[in-house]
Amino acid sequence: MLEQKIKNRTARVAVLGLGHVGYPLASLFAMNGFLSIGYDISKKRLDYINQGKAQPEIASLLPTDNVEKSKKLAQISENMLVSNNGEVLKKVDVFIVAVPTPLRENETPNLIFLENTCKTISKFIRKGTLVIVESTIYPGATEEIVKPILEMSGLLAGRDFYLCFSPERIDPGSKRWSLERIPKIVGGIDSDSRRLACLLYSQVVEKVVPVSSLKVAEATKMLENLFRSVNIALINELSKVFEKLGIDLWETIEAASTKPFAFLPHYPGPGVGGHCIPKDPFYLLYKARRMGLTINFVEEASEINRNMPFYVIYIAEETLKRKNKTIGNSSFAVLGITYKKDVADIRRTPAKTVITELTKISKDVTVFDPFTSETFGAKSGSLEQTIANKDCVILLVDHSYFMENGIEQKINELSSDCCLIDTRNFFNQKKLKKSILYRCLGKPPGC
Ligand SMILES: NC(=O)c1ccc[n+]([C@@H]2O[C@H](COP(=O)([O-])OP(=O)(O)OC[C@H]3O[C@@H](n4cnc5c(N)ncnc54)[C@H](O)[C@@H]3O)[C@@H](O)[C@H]2O)c1
Repeated sequence: MLEQKIKNRTARVAVLGLGHVGYPLASLFAMNGFLSIGYDISKKRLDYINQGKAQPEIASLLPTDNVEKSKKLAQISENMLVSNNGEVLKKVDVFIVAVPTPLRENETPNLIFLENTCKTISKFIRKGTLVIVESTIYPGATEEIVKPILEMSGLLAGRDFYLCFSPERIDPGSKRWSLERIPKIVGGIDSDSRRLACLLYSQVVEKVVPVSSLKVAEATKMLENLFRSVNIALINELSKVFEKLGIDLWETIEAASTKPFAFLPHYPGPGVGGHCIPKDPFYLLYKARRMGLTINFVEEASEINRNMPFYVIYIAEETLKRKNKTIGNSSFAVLGITYKKDVADIRRTPAKTVITELTKISKDVTVFDPFTSETFGAKSGSLEQTIANKDCVILLVDHSYFMENGIEQKINELSSDCCLIDTRNFFNQKKLKKSILYRCLGKPPGC
């Protein structure tokens, strides 16, 4: 019986889609003694994993002590099989779906990866197996999309196999919130499905939170990311207003954060990116529209966040003017390209817009990011080469690498004619030499 197999960790757990979500998850099961089968259609991704290049993605799961870390890595390679051959899915007890759920050009859900994965599972599903969807989808999609495809197997959800939705809440790059520390929400098509999925996750994470239905579990993820999108948009909008009012928004946020209840700090930045915040709210919007409803916040927040890269360019232009320079005749260094700090992910990164727009205006744009060689059409170089002799340095991502490599000193060694645009409140202005014209998003000039 599946319950017994989960309890004694002999259940074979397959994770379909070994990306930013699936690979850490499959590793977590392997680390906890389950036979973990990682299935991905991309040979490139499998090679990347097999060559150990994806290891930074599981850094937060590993102990810092080198001996303990080696033990955990050995356990992962011993218990985890990665393949693109469907045969490995035979005799699987639990299927977990972690494939992409992107948007189409017209900002409606593109569920083709999810549908294809469900077709694959339907070939291998057996009586008594458990299927859990972790990919982000709109409320209702597990029953509307996943269930009918799985039932093409001839088996019925709730009668012959168990079906659940459990949203992934991973925080890529976070050292604090490793996968096992993030509570796992679980909704099932029936109480047996939910009970078994809760039992499974409780073997590998600290806390499991059962909810009453698949829809509530799906909607929880939507709420979380819409909350982020709207609050980031609010702060981005306020950053412009506070600059004009002569108020330091960063200091204001810190002050407001001392309120012990009912305030959660969000910070301004050059826009939002990644495979969640810019796209998930559109999944909810799609579902709402099909019901004749609308959610104005979704569209407004997305629009504000999408415009931030242009605002960064505007700030650069204004700052250069104070040095009697035009944007078209100025040279630029852009530091940081990924969508957030200390990760290599460039999906939907706002840096793409900043760089492509800048290169339309200026012939001299050089970029540097320690995590990626992508340039979005600009030139690239080492950190030193990138910032050397530039009229304007724009910091888009506050990677730890920059401080670890003495960025403030390097900036201070530049010609005194340089402008520095800080979109993350990363630099300490007091440590910069006075002649460098410093502008920070959300702070009035000179603040
Ligand atoms: N990245 C995040 O921070 C994050 C956080 C929470 C939730 N999510 C959600 O998790 C899901 C996965 O996101 P991700 O960032 O891991 O995506 P990803 O693009 O990093 O990885 C997905 C993997 O799935 C593979 N794949 C595609 N079709 C497949 C198929 N038919 N069978 C097997 N493998 C297939 C791809 O080759 C890829 O390696 C998405 O729904 C996303 O919205 C992502």
